[in-house]
Amino acid sequence: RPKAIIFDLDGVLTDTSEYHFQAWKHLADDEGIPFTREENDAHLRGVGRRDSLMYLIRGRQYSEEQIQEMMERKNRYYNALIEKMTPDEIVPGGIDLLKEIRAAGIKTAIASASKNCRTVVERLQIAPYFDGIADGYSVVNGKPAPDLFVYAAGLLHTPTVACLGVEDAAAGIEAIKKAGMRAVAIGPEERFQGADKVLPTLDHKRLSDLLED
Ligand code: G6P
Ligand code: MG
Repeated sequence: RPKAIIFDLDGVLTDTSEYHFQAWKHLADDEGIPFTREENDAHLRGVGRRDSLMYLIRGRQYSEEQIQEMMERKNRYYNALIEKMTPDEIVPGGIDLLKEIRAAGIKTAIASASKNCRTVVERLQIAPYFDGIADGYSVVNGKPAPDLFVYAAGLLHTPTVACLGVEDAAAGIEAIKKAGMRAVAIGPEERFQGADKVLPTLDHKRLSDLLED
């Protein structure tokens, strides 16, 4: 039984991964760059802002100034989408799951690569359910580097081997495994490699669903 459970935010606790996709799609359309949902899931899901843009513009010539401007533009599109979020956009049954975990004496944290993590947590009003938050300001190396999960475990004063990580992105599962944690993947089986358990969705899940093999 883990001493702590560390959740990714976007695409796990809430469907903001869809908003990230829509914002990247908007930017890609602006720039006349072809971009599909399948490419998003394979290459951008869970990946940081600059790395995501680097994938999108691969093989094209842009100056650093243009790159900065495009990252800001995508972020504006994303912020316009999350601005309207309400607490009912938490995954169905998510609050009950978080309450159950904490009632069982297990600590909780968020490990998100996003610099907008705090805003989303505020919109969802879920801050009281977490003992720590690691976000896009916490570490230099994003996922698939293990840093965000290791940092989150540190916030909880819990050894990484005693933690369980929950992720919807291939890069995130890689990060969790590199951190030495048990990894639960949320999404289609074919998206992941090396996850200890795959659940198609986190909707209405109980603590036991995360623990059992
Ligand atoms: C999360 C999301 C990614 C996003 C990254 C950076 O990992 O899953 O889609 O690119 O955070 O987010 P930011 O809000 O800082 O651009
Ligand atoms: Mg995610």
